[in-house]
Amino acid sequence: MASSSTFSILLGILQATILLISVARTVTMADPSPLASEAVAMVESGWWSNYSNNASERCQWPGILCNTAGSIIQIDISDASNIEVGDRFGKLNFSSFPNLVLLDLSDRQLGGNIPHQIGKLSALKHLDLSNCGLSGELPPSLGNLTQLEYLDISYNDKINGSIPQQLGNLVNLVTLNLSANSLGGNIPPFLWLLTNLRHLILDRNQFDDSINTIPQNLWNLRRLETLSLSSCGIVGPIPSALGQLLNLKYLDLSENKINGSIPSEIGFLSNLTLLHLYNNKLGGSIPFSLYQLTNLETLYLDSNQLKGSIPQNIEKLKNINFLSITNNSFTGHIPLALCRLSKLESIYLDKNQISGSIPSCLGKLFNLRTLYLDSNLLEGLIPKEIGNLANLTSLRLSQNKLSGSIPFLIGNLEALRFLDLTKNRLIGSIPIEIENLANLTSLSLSQNKLSGSIPSCIGNLSNLYNLELDSNLLKGPIPEEIGRLFQLSNLNLSFNELSGSVPILSATKLRIIDAGNNCNKISPDPFDGNSRLSPYMCPSPVTNKANSSTIPYYIKIFLPIAIFSTFSILGYFLFSRFKLKNNSVSVQPTKNGDLCSIWNYDGKIAYEDIVAATEDFDFRYCIGVGGYGSVYRAQLPCGKVVALKKLHRLEAENPAFDKSFKNEIKFLTEIRHRSIVKLHGYCLHRRSMFLIYEYMEKGSLFCNLRDEVEAVEMDWTKRVEIIKGIAHALSYLHNDCSPPIVHRDISSNNVLLNSSFEAFVADFGTAKMLDLESSNRTIIVGTCGYVAPELAYTMVVTEKCDVYSFGVVTLETLMGKHPEELLSWLSSPTSLVNMRLIDVLDNRLPLPTIPLVAQNLVRIATLAFACLNPQPKSRPTIKEVCEEFLHGQTSLGIPLRMISLLQLVNREMHIGGRTETCNA
Ligand SMILES: *[C@@H]1O[C@H](CO)[C@@H](O)[C@H](O)[C@H]1NC(C)=O
Ligand SMILES: *[C@@H]1O[C@H](CO)[C@@H](O)[C@H](O)[C@H]1NC(C)=O
Ligand SMILES: *[C@@H]1O[C@H](CO)[C@@H](O)[C@H](O)[C@H]1NC(C)=O
Ligand SMILES: *[C@@H]1O[C@H](CO)[C@@H](O)[C@H](O)[C@H]1NC(C)=O
Ligand SMILES: *[C@@H]1O[C@H](CO)[C@@H](O)[C@H](O)[C@H]1NC(C)=O
Ligand SMILES: *[C@@H]1O[C@H](CO)[C@@H](O)[C@H](O)[C@H]1NC(C)=O
Ligand SMILES: *[C@@H]1O[C@H](CO)[C@@H](O)[C@H](O)[C@H]1NC(C)=O
Repeated sequence: MASSSTFSILLGILQATILLISVARTVTMADPSPLASEAVAMVESGWWSNYSNNASERCQWPGILCNTAGSIIQIDISDASNIEVGDRFGKLNFSSFPNLVLLDLSDRQLGGNIPHQIGKLSALKHLDLSNCGLSGELPPSLGNLTQLEYLDISYNDKINGSIPQQLGNLVNLVTLNLSANSLGGNIPPFLWLLTNLRHLILDRNQFDDSINTIPQNLWNLRRLETLSLSSCGIVGPIPSALGQLLNLKYLDLSENKINGSIPSEIGFLSNLTLLHLYNNKLGGSIPFSLYQLTNLETLYLDSNQLKGSIPQNIEKLKNINFLSITNNSFTGHIPLALCRLSKLESIYLDKNQISGSIPSCLGKLFNLRTLYLDSNLLEGLIPKEIGNLANLTSLRLSQNKLSGSIPFLIGNLEALRFLDLTKNRLIGSIPIEIENLANLTSLSLSQNKLSGSIPSCIGNLSNLYNLELDSNLLKGPIPEEIGRLFQLSNLNLSFNELSGSVPILSATKLRIIDAGNNCNKISPDPFDGNSRLSPYMCPSPVTNKANSSTIPYYIKIFLPIAIFSTFSILGYFLFSRFKLKNNSVSVQPTKNGDLCSIWNYDGKIAYEDIVAATEDFDFRYCIGVGGYGSVYRAQLPCGKVVALKKLHRLEAENPAFDKSFKNEIKFLTEIRHRSIVKLHGYCLHRRSMFLIYEYMEKGSLFCNLRDEVEAVEMDWTKRVEIIKGIAHALSYLHNDCSPPIVHRDISSNNVLLNSSFEAFVADFGTAKMLDLESSNRTIIVGTCGYVAPELAYTMVVTEKCDVYSFGVVTLETLMGKHPEELLSWLSSPTSLVNMRLIDVLDNRLPLPTIPLVAQNLVRIATLAFACLNPQPKSRPTIKEVCEEFLHGQTSLGIPLRMISLLQLVNREMHIGGRTETCNA
């Protein structure tokens, strides 16, 4: 009995198995056609045609991932530089990929419209078309992709029209990023119903600024962590329902026309770290509940109509780093509680009606770098404790009612770059301790009652480019040492009681006008209104040959600007051979003879707008200075924040020059790559010349590596990404531009970082298109310490020069400082045998513990040494460098701490397995 029932069970199992196998077989028998049509579609798309046409190997093609059945589930060619999609985006038969889950074409220059057929990718969950140069409207068929969780079409600039209603079907969306396009119309109401959204990013579009509001039903989006609606044309108040978005970390509603008051419900958002409400029309006072946001790190409320005083409660914001309430109507005193917010790095309380005195306890905020209290009603003394703020770089107390003398302890602020005490009631003399402020670039003490003489030690402040001591009671002679201030571009000593003679000025940057009789006169006259000064002598500018060992760091930073200016003169000759895609440059001279154009913003911008945006180049907007020009942060009338590079106008009003300059600039604006700083336009004016760039919050890689705080924040992963970003940008210039462009001045100064430490290559001032007809022999440009050695004797510029500079920047990024010494050892590599990689890695960061990160560092260091090969031929191309990043990781084999530099130079660490080809 027992055995027969066992038998029948076994039989049953056997039958079931046979049945299953036959079912499986019929499925596979019926299946080949979808796979076959995938294969056909892959070949017909032409995307991989340069790589292979053998479709039977398609699962191994770059960027492809198949499931076990051999059906394609991912196409990610965002990093596959050898794959060319170009205008063939629409050639893909979207009907043939029933299992495709991910499509990532980001950073590939596709051009054209998004094909309507994309709606056939019914399984798609992740679609990334960011920075693809796409234009036209968003196809409504995107609404058929109902599985979609991630949709990123940001940074396409020219995508216009309104957001189609059909996107309301995408109920699974977690991330929707449409920022930096030209979308118009309204922000459709269905967006507020997509309950799975965590990141909603719509900033930088052209939404209609009279119809968009944030509705109360915003509360549907309870999972939201990021809400970025900066510059989205929003009117009306912030709904109180905002307080229900408890997961919100990042809230940016800046640059709209939002009115009403800040809802007190904002206090519920306890995870908020960033709150940007600047440039709106918010009124009322700050709700008390806001001070409960203990995780808040950044609070920007500037340029609204807020009033009331800052309460002692502010002390609860104990994580705050950046606080700005500039340009509102705040009253009351500066609360002592502010002094307990020890993480504060920047305090902007300027342009309000704050009264009382400056609390001396501010001197305890040791991390403070920026303190703006100007244009208020402050009185009393400048507390001497301010002298404790060793990290302070900008101190502005101008336009208050401060009295007493300038505390001599101000001489302790050795990091100080900007000091502005203009328009107060200060008395006494200028403290000689000021001579310790070696980094000072701008000193403004105008319109006070300062007496005594000008200390001659001011002549030691060799970085000064702005010196304003006018409208005081200063007596005695003008110290001859002022003549040594080579960088000066603005000097004002007028309306004092100075006597003696005017010193010979060596500064070549002073605005000099020809007053006839070959007499170069500075305008406005910096010495006016000093009746006892001997008659005006023509200052004859003396050129000062800077000797390289004493070049201050900022010259190195701004050297590119200088070279740009010089280059501009040569521009006519160098660029006359270029074939521009579009020769007609649309610029309209206005009545002032200005020529202004910004390509990516609608409308023209006039010189007056730039003057207004920077308050006539007020130093508080200045974010960088050098002997050759200044960089300003400016907010244009359209609301965009840009970096303005103001160049000195050296050349004559030569129409031929203007034309070639414009053509060159036009060419540069057409360079589009995610890791290249966008040049938005330029402005030529009788008085000055600007370049208008995308604004990069963190400044240069150089400065970030030298800043103890930023350097630590730039962890290994970020640094690896920075290096990859530079490589991709260079690869684009060398391989995807026609004609290819050699940057020629890759250095850590020319790599800028945005707020998330992503790298952007900047400054094409010296860039040269490799035109085959023209000789590539040229004068040496580039920054000392980054220039390839062969340039010294061959003077022939090739892409390999950039590769060398890339190697230097790469090592610098790993080491945290310029690899000067290491470069000298490379000529006798045996000296490297006892040097370990970990001995040279930036010791401000802990050694990587994650194997993947360690492998990346070793790989990158190996590549860097290959790039630094003295023989240009032996260096890899930048394309090979990029390809190297794509290879899978293999483990190191030996612990990181045992790897010597010699092993890296000799490429003994076989990671990725293809390093040999770099020698080809
Ligand atoms: C791909 O091939 C075409 C034609 O053969 C050629 O013009 C193009 O430069 C190639 N692209 C790449 C990335 O190799
Ligand atoms: C395509 O690749 C397969 C597998 O590697 C190979 O067997 C076949 O011969 C190739 N076909 C062509 C036309 O090269
Ligand atoms: C695209 O693929 C589908 C399904 O595989 C097929 O029916 C259709 O004919 C193809 N279209 C084109 C234009 O090749
Ligand atoms: C999207 O779906 C609609 C309605 O189901 C259909 O008519 C349309 O053809 C689809 N579009 C695409 C591109 O699949
Ligand atoms: C804040 O964030 C933490 C972790 O990120 C999360 O666990 C917590 O639920 C969040 N708080 C609220 C109120 O959502
Ligand atoms: C300057 O800032 C750094 C980093 O925030 C801090 O460690 C240092 O103590 C500060 N300097 C002084 C003198 O307090
Ligand atoms: C002056 O500036 C240089 C370059 O940024 C910096 O290295 C140095 O630390 C600064 N000096 C002080 C005292 O902060």
